[in-house]
Amino acid sequence: MAEEYPRKLRYGMIGGGAGSFIGDVHRKALQLTGRAELVCGCFGANVTNSLQMGRRLNVAVDRIYGDYRQMAAAEAGQPEKIDFVIIATPNHMHYEMVKTFLDLAFNVVCEKPLCFTWAEAQELQALATEKSVIVGVTYTYMGYLMVKEARRLVRMGDLGPINMVMAEYAQEWFAVSAVKNDGKAGRWRNVPAYGGPSNCVGDIGSHLEYLVSYLTGLEIDSLCANLRAVGQGAVLDTEAEILLKYKSGAGGIYWCSQVAVGSSNGLKIRIFGAKGSLEWEQENPEILKVNILGEPGRILKRGQKYLGEQTLAYCRLPAGHPEGFYEAFANIYFAYTEALFRRKEGVPPAAERDFPGIADGVRGVRFIEKCVESSRNGLWVKM
Ligand SMILES: NC(=O)c1ccc[n+]([C@@H]2O[C@H](COP(=O)([O-])OP(=O)(O)OC[C@H]3O[C@@H](n4cnc5c(N)ncnc54)[C@H](O)[C@@H]3O)[C@@H](O)[C@H]2O)c1
Repeated sequence: MAEEYPRKLRYGMIGGGAGSFIGDVHRKALQLTGRAELVCGCFGANVTNSLQMGRRLNVAVDRIYGDYRQMAAAEAGQPEKIDFVIIATPNHMHYEMVKTFLDLAFNVVCEKPLCFTWAEAQELQALATEKSVIVGVTYTYMGYLMVKEARRLVRMGDLGPINMVMAEYAQEWFAVSAVKNDGKAGRWRNVPAYGGPSNCVGDIGSHLEYLVSYLTGLEIDSLCANLRAVGQGAVLDTEAEILLKYKSGAGGIYWCSQVAVGSSNGLKIRIFGAKGSLEWEQENPEILKVNILGEPGRILKRGQKYLGEQTLAYCRLPAGHPEGFYEAFANIYFAYTEALFRRKEGVPPAAERDFPGIADGVRGVRFIEKCVESSRNGLWVKM
């Protein structure tokens, strides 16, 4: 991918300490873009943990913090303010952290879910608008090349009007952890005060909601959800079945589970239209299966010249050299940093910003809230 800008952006990070998962993925993804460097951070809940990781990452010691509020205040006073800050901590901290940095007019990238309640999410959106900053929310899977190709085909009308969407996200980690009794099942995702009102829908069902919206543009009219706490020690949901009606009249079924024995990260999506259908799986992300009525089925492969020009613009490696999770994440950051660079250089924004923004984060929180409400009351609810 072209790297057209002469100077790198500078960013800070909250979370992403030793042994954590996603913070390190953010950093590696940004390295892949070649467009930003890490200059400050609060990598843990205390100064010792934060220093341990910050030093390892070559961050200047006077810009490693043990408290994110201290970091926000100090960084706001820097002569050259960072271009954006990443929030990659457990869910319960997102709202306060995002708010703190938005208040000081920092651009922010926050992990999903954006916060716990729709009211909080709307407040953050209003604040982002008031401060005129650019917010990203990292719904990872939109970054895969073959997802982008699928979107292009759907948007071009190759499948005809969409009738039905079948989306699933199956994992087994909760079941495995409960049996091994390794403590992971009891960590923050399964604790309401830290994970939020939902575990499974919040953690992985929310990816399905965003992905379907990105691929099809379908808007949810109403849903009926059945959330269940399955598995030893489950406090919040670890399994959910969700029926959906979209405003267009199409229907959908989402299934997400953390107790689906045998499944590692089984995100799979099938979209059925009047003229055709397609199918994509996260664990086999290099291919997209497409069926057009009356024609032989096709398997499209990443990197091949027959893909759309806008899809190929994200291509990093020649076909047959697999790209994966890091590249997908990097593609989100490519589009996000593009938006920041354009604003900085006074270039008009791209016709479409190809990364999940604050409106997507707000809708995602609404979706989680509505699933919980529907399940609790045993009713269809309006989105
Ligand atoms: N987009 C994705 O595909 C994806 C994947 C996994 C997780 N996530 C999201 O990322 C977030 C983090 O998940 P994770 O699995 O990396 O969690 P984790 O528990 O592995 O890591 C959390 C990190 O936050 C740090 N932290 C905790 N309190 C802090 C504080 N007060 N100040 C600074 N740092 C603090 C911890 O020390 C740790 O380094 C969650 O919101 C989760 O939903 C997203």
